[in-house]
Amino acid sequence: MTTSLLPKTVGDSRIQIAQLMQPDQANNLGNVHGGWIMKLVDDAGALACMRHSQRRVVTVAIDSLVFRHPIRIGDLVLLTAQLTDVGRTSMEVEVQVRAENPISGDSTDTNTAYLVYVALNDAGRPVEVPPLVAETDDEKRRQVEARRRQAHRLAEQK
Ligand SMILES: CC(C)(COP(=O)(O)OP(=O)(O)OC[C@H]1O[C@@H](n2cnc3c(N)ncnc32)[C@H](O)[C@@H]1OP(=O)(O)O)[C@@H](O)C(=O)NCCC(=O)NCCS
Repeated sequence: MTTSLLPKTVGDSRIQIAQLMQPDQANNLGNVHGGWIMKLVDDAGALACMRHSQRRVVTVAIDSLVFRHPIRIGDLVLLTAQLTDVGRTSMEVEVQVRAENPISGDSTDTNTAYLVYVALNDAGRPVEVPPLVAETDDEKRRQVEARRRQAHRLAEQK
């Protein structure tokens, strides 16, 4: 397989995952464990980055996760992951989580998370990723905000 460094759009790697919440993913009040949602968020973010970079990736940063509404057994959890910006080897992804009652159709935005992944070569070292093309005004706004967040993360690390 050849890995291309040609620019890719946000839509090229956007991904949506849907999963029905089962009793073994919940506490005894019927609310889904936050850790389970965190795993789904990480999976969705990694998949979008793998699609963009055509590489295996590792998570390097997860910003704070705030759960605004409980997710219940029987809810369909819909995760949408899209790249917001890329550096040389790193990629920031926004993951939006929505819970839907598949019977009533009622749905709630439960949380939004920002994660950073790094693409790795076969030796396990960071490797260059394709540039990201932000096409819409919304994508351009997200890119500006992503650059601000990444500058803040790197400053915090020092
Ligand atoms: C990710 C990892 C390979 C980076 O290695 P490294 O030697 O620090 O590499 P670099 O310093 O070149 O950093 C690589 C990229 O990560 C970015 N980065 C490093 N620390 C970061 C942080 N705290 N937040 C955001 N981005 C960060 C750098 O800015 C750089 O991005 P760029 O190439 O786009 O400019 C290494 O830190 C690692 O293996 N971490 C463990 C990952 C892991 O196990 N995750 C959990 C399981 S998947």
